[in-house]
Amino acid sequence: MSLTPHDARRDAQTEATGEPTAPSEPSRRRFLQSAAAAAALGAAPHLRAQNAPEPATAADTPTPPPVPAQPVRLNINGREYALHIEPRVTLLDALRDYAGLTGTKKGCDRGQCGACTVLVEGRRINACLTLAVMHEGQRITTVEGLASASAPSTMQRAFIERDALQCGFCTPGQLCSATACLTEFAAGAASAATADVRARPPELSDAEIRERMSGNICRCGAYANIVAAVRDAHSASA
Ligand code: FES
Ligand code: FES
Repeated sequence: MSLTPHDARRDAQTEATGEPTAPSEPSRRRFLQSAAAAAALGAAPHLRAQNAPEPATAADTPTPPPVPAQPVRLNINGREYALHIEPRVTLLDALRDYAGLTGTKKGCDRGQCGACTVLVEGRRINACLTLAVMHEGQRITTVEGLASASAPSTMQRAFIERDALQCGFCTPGQLCSATACLTEFAAGAASAATADVRARPPELSDAEIRERMSGNICRCGAYANIVAAVRDAHSASA
């Protein structure tokens, strides 16, 4: 806003006398007009946003038609199960809700806790992160299949002797994971704790056990006893 000769005169008078003078009527009107214009400009984007069409919400998205259930044959703990399930059913839900094998636990249902660990062809996987239909024709072992008909497995016995559990919720996953952990070590697989990954790890140290079992969370904090149990089972099977 440029100064008029009138405004300049008023400023000079204020400076000389130290007394502010009342602004003249035309300059007050100009000031009010400018302020109103600035306020209108500031509000414009908001007004535009109010008039813009609403973004689509999840409720507007059409629901896809249901996928029909289909027959799936799973080999679990050496036994054939003929299930009738939708293709989107996870292996975890198939085990618990369709095959009735509730030993495998659902913790997070998103691959973070390891409670659902089972063995597929001897390798440990999170059953919540895989679909049951992907495992037709493969050998699936759950905690119910670790023991023989007459005795617990070496790992199960070590867990009992070391008191490696409190509430027991994580234990089925820990047992499956620990069983595969020993198999992986025997096959020469390195871990992030292995000093030289090009060479076979020299020994299954506690640091190796902790690293290899790090995908299995225990909310009760029974880690010290779990590590001791895995160490005992390793020594017993060496
Ligand atoms: S339930 Fe599968 S990782 Fe937690
Ligand atoms: S024993 Fe309770 S969560 Fe591991």
